[in-house]
Amino acid sequence: MQGTINADGFFWDERATTLEEQVLMPFQDPVEMGMTLEQVVNEVQEQSFYTELFQNAFGSTEINSERIAQALAQFVRSIVSYSSKYDLGRSMVTNPGADFPNFSTEENTGKNIFFQTIPNGGGACFGCHTTEAFVSANPGPQNNGLDLMTTDEGAGAVFNNPIFDGRFKTSTLRNIEHTAPYMHDGRFATLEEAVEHYNSGIQAHPTLSPALLDVDGNPVQRNLSDSDKTALVAFLKTLTDDSVSSEEKWSDPFQ
Ligand code: HEC
Repeated sequence: MQGTINADGFFWDERATTLEEQVLMPFQDPVEMGMTLEQVVNEVQEQSFYTELFQNAFGSTEINSERIAQALAQFVRSIVSYSSKYDLGRSMVTNPGADFPNFSTEENTGKNIFFQTIPNGGGACFGCHTTEAFVSANPGPQNNGLDLMTTDEGAGAVFNNPIFDGRFKTSTLRNIEHTAPYMHDGRFATLEEAVEHYNSGIQAHPTLSPALLDVDGNPVQRNLSDSDKTALVAFLKTLTDDSVSSEEKWSDPFQ
């Protein structure tokens, strides 16, 4: 696998190259469900209602792990967020750089910091959390300066290549308000702590992203004011979309 990068990699170290691969892993992980695929297939086969559902979806009643993966991956793919305060504001302007009419002054300030480059007084967040899904559009994981010495090699272990040590998937920031704690190891309990990391906590490392270096090649220190940091957090909260947790099509069908 050395040298191959997949922009669609899943998990923090991007070890799953497709969603179909990803969805079968938690079943089998010893710290998650600890099952064999055979056990999973048996469990699904034992529930009588699946016969008709598999017939409808696949044209025959056969239940196997490939079909379970396809069905689960397709469900995950259906979960798309487009009803946040950000999305409403975005629909009112022609480009994301313009002030959003539905945002407070603080939220618009936070948006500017998020989108602007460091020389322009911004945080360069959009350089990595990009597209309006706020996820990595660039191939490959990044080192966002968490550690001087990496104890978790991240993608380096998956790609078997030290240039990826300490590099992790740039995760989406949609609904970030609801998904604490933050980073691959959950080291930050709050969004304020995550923002403070980017403000003053970036650590030097051979694989640190160049986006997080200053002109002298040192880890960047942004020295944002308290009100700028609060504004950035306020902006991140405009990415909250409660439809994802409340819409019936994504909720528990057994209730
Ligand atoms: C060099 C690329 C890069 C830049 C620039 C960057 N990030 Fe990140 N960000 C990452 C990566 C990679 C992760 C995942 C790290 C991990 O899993 O340990 C991440 C994770 C996060 C998380 C936690 C996500 C979660 O689900 O746990 C937040 C919040 C965040 N970034 C906010 C920001 C903000 C705000 C800025 C701008 C100040 C910013 N990022 C700039 C690459 C970047």
